[in-house]
Amino acid sequence: MNHLDALPANFRWGAATAAYQIEGAASTDGRAPSIWDTFSHTPGKVAGGDTGDVACDHYHRWPQDLDLAASLGLDAYRFSIAWPRVVPLADGKVNAAGLDFYDRLVDGMLERGLTPFPTLYHWDLPQAQQDRGGWPERATAERFAEYAAVVAERLGDRVRDWCTLNEPLCSSWIGHLEGTMAPGVTDLTAAVRTSYHLHLGHGLAVQALRAAVPGARIGIVNNLSTIEPASRSDADLAAALRADGHINRWWLDPVLGRGYPQDMLDLYGVELPVRDGDLELISAPLDWIGLNYYFRQIVADDPTGPAPHFRQVPGPNPERTAMDWEVHAPGIEELLLRLTEEYGVREIYVTENGSAYRDTVTADGRVDDPERTAYLESHLAACARAVAKGAPLAGYFAWSLLDNFEWAYGYDKRFGLIHVDYDTQVRTLKSSGERYAQLIAAHRARA
Ligand code: IFM
Repeated sequence: MNHLDALPANFRWGAATAAYQIEGAASTDGRAPSIWDTFSHTPGKVAGGDTGDVACDHYHRWPQDLDLAASLGLDAYRFSIAWPRVVPLADGKVNAAGLDFYDRLVDGMLERGLTPFPTLYHWDLPQAQQDRGGWPERATAERFAEYAAVVAERLGDRVRDWCTLNEPLCSSWIGHLEGTMAPGVTDLTAAVRTSYHLHLGHGLAVQALRAAVPGARIGIVNNLSTIEPASRSDADLAAALRADGHINRWWLDPVLGRGYPQDMLDLYGVELPVRDGDLELISAPLDWIGLNYYFRQIVADDPTGPAPHFRQVPGPNPERTAMDWEVHAPGIEELLLRLTEEYGVREIYVTENGSAYRDTVTADGRVDDPERTAYLESHLAACARAVAKGAPLAGYFAWSLLDNFEWAYGYDKRFGLIHVDYDTQVRTLKSSGERYAQLIAAHRARA
């Protein structure tokens, strides 16, 4: 039996990207700045002073990029819609040209047999909303739902699969607590309020999508990690529990109907601005849950560090990606089984999984990336093991279709199955991309 045979016959094979990371055209056709434009243009915030101004110029080159996606044999393409293109300013006016772009893009996918999987929010809050207080304020959740309704009205006749938020953990903990992502705030209260309003925005957007798109299939995407204590000491075991709360349970429990974890509420000590009906909205039934998996976290107690008082220690596997993330494929299997067994999730997508390595283009124009290929194969095999044990995994989206703007790391970190030369915008399929296409074809042939 082939190691991927356990994957269901109707398994969806995909690849993912996000608007700010690939589109460029930052001030074209009425797009206004997002918090990532502001952040990346602030000296010292992004490696090499890189910005998303041009990125992969996907805004203009999307037909070629969709051709490449289709040439891999993908069934589905996960992309994000830029709120600052659609409702750029605080006046709430819809920018027709911005919406037209996604209309063309969706048609382009359908023409090529790719099922569109849009994400409504992949971190690019319009700067105009940030200027009004951003995610720490309830109004931002309400504005998000209005924007979601606009997009749903326009694309809902062709798009069935929707994702509200990508990795709200990053917007909250990295953007508002650690401050190394936009908007670069370091304040626990702001971070906790952000997480709450993101969840509320998700719930309101689900309501708007269900109203506008009969039969919509809606999910949310979280980046989760398996957590292991650095030692069996009571202090490290307790740190692991806190880390699990901070990284996993805070993001799953409220959305899956369990409310916010009490141990974390006590630890953060920040009162949530809950109003009547909010928790029901936040936990409204979903059709699927998205898992983004990159690495496990081994944690030790850190009593003098900032809340929640744990620090990550390096894992034992010497294999590391260019991000210095330990390669640990069993983690994806564990998380898929946790979602299935502990949370009772009935449909899961791996909405992102992938690796950055230092790729080079050889003289004959090839990009050979055996490490990324091995990462892809080992993680897919781990997914198949989870399926064999009962995980309802419906699809897998490789991160990423293209090399792109890796946020605070700039363009130095390459996650693509397709190499992008940022000087010429030439795309080159890497050997990992060729391997992915082979695996897809082989699975399809056996299905
Ligand atoms: O590039 C990011 C993506 O935007 C969100 N998930 C993790 C990826 C790799 O860091």
